[in-house]
Amino acid sequence: MEEPTPKDLFLKSVSRCIANEAFIPTFYERFLGSSEEIKDKFRFTNFEKQNKMLARSLELCAGATAGEAESLAEITERARTHDRDHLNIEPRFYGVWLETVIETASEFDDEWTSSIESAWRTILGHVVQRMISKY
Ligand code: HEM
Repeated sequence: MEEPTPKDLFLKSVSRCIANEAFIPTFYERFLGSSEEIKDKFRFTNFEKQNKMLARSLELCAGATAGEAESLAEITERARTHDRDHLNIEPRFYGVWLETVIETASEFDDEWTSSIESAWRTILGHVVQRMISKY
């Protein structure tokens, strides 16, 4: 039998995490709790929207990995809304975002392994790099 690709590992792991409705709120509690500066970025955001951001981000990462033109175009658009002239999300915040996503996923995915972790790191890492490069 063929080994699953990082993309397969990532997508299945995302589905297991999202199936637990506490996954996304737990991520936000930790991400916003990690610093006053991050919390402040979300001062005008309602909770429902915040929840959507992570779900949408993971979908975009999955789509971009699959090479979908629409997802790639939307990541470029998100990079613009997050740049210094808009939401002003400084590059240093992305590391916290990535570590918080991975830490939370590792606790919610009951089939978590080191290959799954490296799949998350590779896939989210590409998107983060792209967002940062357009800051
Ligand atoms: C690869 C990483 C990220 C992706 C793909 C991403 C994606 C998104 C998306 C899709 C939205 C729009 C949600 C909507 O449709 O309303 C959004 C909004 C937002 N993001 Fe991110 N994001 C990322 C990282 C971050 C980081 C590191 C921060 C740091 C604080 C951040 C702060 C925000 C804020 C403040 C909003 C606006 C929420 C609102 O008031 O509507 N994002 N992001």
